[in-house]
Amino acid sequence: MNMEPERITVTSPLLPDLADFNALLQDIWSRKWITNNGFYIKQLETKLCSYLKIPFISVFTNGTLPLITALQALRITGEVITTPFSFVATTHSIWWNGLKPVFVDIDPVTCNINPDKIEAAITPRTSAIMPVHCYGNPCDTKRIKEIADKYHLKVIYDAAHAFGVEKDGESILKHGDLSTLSFHATKVFNTIEGGAMVMADESMKKYIDYLKNFGFAGETEVVAPGINSKMDEVRSAYGLINLNKVDTAIQARKKVAEKYREALKDVPGIRFMENIPGVRHNYGYFPIFVNEKEYGMSRDALYEKMKEANVYGRRYFYPLISTFSTYRGLESSAPSNLPVATRLADEVICLPIHHALSAEDVNRVIEQIVK
Ligand SMILES: Cc1ncc(COP(=O)(O)O)c(C=O)c1O
Repeated sequence: MNMEPERITVTSPLLPDLADFNALLQDIWSRKWITNNGFYIKQLETKLCSYLKIPFISVFTNGTLPLITALQALRITGEVITTPFSFVATTHSIWWNGLKPVFVDIDPVTCNINPDKIEAAITPRTSAIMPVHCYGNPCDTKRIKEIADKYHLKVIYDAAHAFGVEKDGESILKHGDLSTLSFHATKVFNTIEGGAMVMADESMKKYIDYLKNFGFAGETEVVAPGINSKMDEVRSAYGLINLNKVDTAIQARKKVAEKYREALKDVPGIRFMENIPGVRHNYGYFPIFVNEKEYGMSRDALYEKMKEANVYGRRYFYPLISTFSTYRGLESSAPSNLPVATRLADEVICLPIHHALSAEDVNRVIEQIVK
């Protein structure tokens, strides 16, 4: 008999009830319109605007293409200041536009780009800043705006982690020139694959809608060298059902986070993030930072030990983007330029957290960490 305990995964997709999804699939089948700004795509955009408290959104086929498209739409040139402590798609989107990423170190508490370090990285070629609301923690949007205004830079927020995050009752997605979301299966809100761009005005929404559809502005008119990154009807319908479930999922995640915080608060060498006053968090991630000296075990040793017990965390973000072969030759990739990001990438493990994690599962995770 196999006595191995059941695998606990770092996340688990929020799935619509199959009967609900089937009903919408039947409707899509009867409409015979499966993509290109169809009924469910439009409905998803309307419902997302209302849920997220934002004026305009354009849904995409994933969370990487809106990043690439945002840089195109704002005609960014030269250099883009960004964080190395993110998922590779952030920097890849800069590279895919033929631009130079310039890495700036992060704040040790929020893991977001450190505004104090941005000005020193600005050159005459800099035209934009691409920060990330890492783990859904809001960036210092006020400071970033002041710097951007002073140097006439555009700001594109990679808000892939920040679905539903609010600060003082306002959506975090309202900051910067544009913000992007990912609706990947691993995210708090998912459409299997999917994403979106959030903008402040209708004319930008129109332009982005053209760009994601090859630049078509009508049957025969192409206004820009666009791409195809459209969302389809099936995944929009799936998303609409999930949108009704996302608040319950966030509440379940919150309970998991609270259990972790309570259990880990006195473990020497284990640090975690606290809630930020005034912020509505989405509990998408629960990173812990392992101080090898104080904890008595390295991050990697703990990660492997957890795996042996069938508990799968994720070293997210490790390795740093700046260490990948494409980027490691850049001057800004030098570890001496990124001491905080370099240290945290070596300390971090994101613990399992999702809507369906049972109390026993949470205890099994905790047991691995509390010696
Ligand atoms: C910070 C960040 N940016 C961008 C992306 C890319 O999103 P997608 O996987 O939907 O293309 C992700 C996805 O994991 C992400 O975490």
